[in-house]
Amino acid sequence: MQSLLSSSVLASPCSSGKLAAAASVSAAARISGAAAIAVSRRSAIAGGGRCVAVASSSSSSSAVTTAEAGGAVPATMKAWAYDEYGDGTVLKFKDAVPVPDIADDQVLVRVAAAALNPVDSKRRAGKFKATDSPLPTVPGYDAAGVVVKVGSKVKGLKVGDEVYGNINEKALEGPKQSGSLAEYTAVEEKLVAIKPSNLDFAQAAGLPLAVETAHEGLERAGLSAGKSVLVLGGAGGVGSLAIQLAKQVFGAAKVAATASTPKLELLKSLGADLAIDYTKENFDQLPDKYDVVFDAVGQGEKAVKVVKEGGSVVVLTGAVPPPGFRFVVTSDGSVLEKLNPYLESGKVKPLVDPKGPFAFSQVVEAFSYLDAGRATGKEFVYILLNR
Ligand SMILES: NC(=O)c1ccc[n+]([C@@H]2O[C@H](COP(=O)([O-])OP(=O)(O)OC[C@H]3O[C@@H](n4cnc5c(N)ncnc54)[C@H](OP(=O)(O)O)[C@@H]3O)[C@@H](O)[C@H]2O)c1
Repeated sequence: MQSLLSSSVLASPCSSGKLAAAASVSAAARISGAAAIAVSRRSAIAGGGRCVAVASSSSSSSAVTTAEAGGAVPATMKAWAYDEYGDGTVLKFKDAVPVPDIADDQVLVRVAAAALNPVDSKRRAGKFKATDSPLPTVPGYDAAGVVVKVGSKVKGLKVGDEVYGNINEKALEGPKQSGSLAEYTAVEEKLVAIKPSNLDFAQAAGLPLAVETAHEGLERAGLSAGKSVLVLGGAGGVGSLAIQLAKQVFGAAKVAATASTPKLELLKSLGADLAIDYTKENFDQLPDKYDVVFDAVGQGEKAVKVVKEGGSVVVLTGAVPPPGFRFVVTSDGSVLEKLNPYLESGKVKPLVDPKGPFAFSQVVEAFSYLDAGRATGKEFVYILLNR
């Protein structure tokens, strides 16, 4: 199973022949002529090991101009959108969606890669319609790309900076109408951070919402050095990061995690001391108790049975009896900044689902995979640039 880790964690998804093939065949078949040209250029770049077509931009150069970072910003862009709630069939490819305006505290990012999270599916299905922004919606929370415009109150970022972040400060409260599954997205400066230098755009795009959730959950649960933690759903986007953060950032003495049989070695390679096969064992029937239980599956009823007296149970989804509690993640670029050294040193690694990456033309397929709930780590939807 180390091979799963090798292929999914360590190998750059950008060098994947699969991506190049997917981009050249599927994208050319499904999107407009202009985009198809972009696709074929992108395919050539992928073969050279560079992930996205932004090689002319550089975060290290203060002299980067808007033109160098991606050309003059057009009035319209390609994007995926839906104008009614429903299953994956509501998603439509649009080639002339208005590029979002930026507020004084925002930057405009030319998106190089975006990633899907379960919240994208739930939102598309209308589960949060009471607090959603009005339709139509360009979905997508996570993005990595290049800053092409800055608002008048932006202090720390400049045109040409390579950034990543979750563009919605509150996941369920009025998430932006113009999300990251588009060529451009507008985001508050405080919600993004400079992309870790060792990660390509796709690896970075898969991190923000999941790593912020893992970090906030462990922090709210009071995990600290020397304590024990059980992560339910350790192979998923959030769980895989919760295991790594628990060990590397919070200094947990013992990390246990659950997954199905094929993913047990993966849990260990991420740092789990104990990998529990939920298809063969009930974790609440085992003798061990934990200082913290981090539930990314929705098993609150069982989770509270395995916490030590005085410990914490934090759940991401579903109901939970006391002392458990549930929270909704807040996007925060300063958390990403804090974690950047761990990412750059390789102590914390993004986990790329071996089924991905998906081309921008394959957003429907990517959603379908996400909807099935079997993703390992984070799946990527590539945003192909029109140049
Ligand atoms: N409250 C918040 O702020 C917040 C933030 C982020 C996510 N969430 C929610 O948290 C949940 C997890 O998100 P995610 O991004 O990590 O999802 P994900 O990546 O789609 O999770 C998929 C993983 O869940 C595992 N899984 C499924 N059933 C399991 C079970 N009974 N026991 C152990 N593992 C199981 C699967 O492993 P197997 O194939 O081995 O089963 C798969 O690896 C979602 O419901 C999401 O909406 C909430």
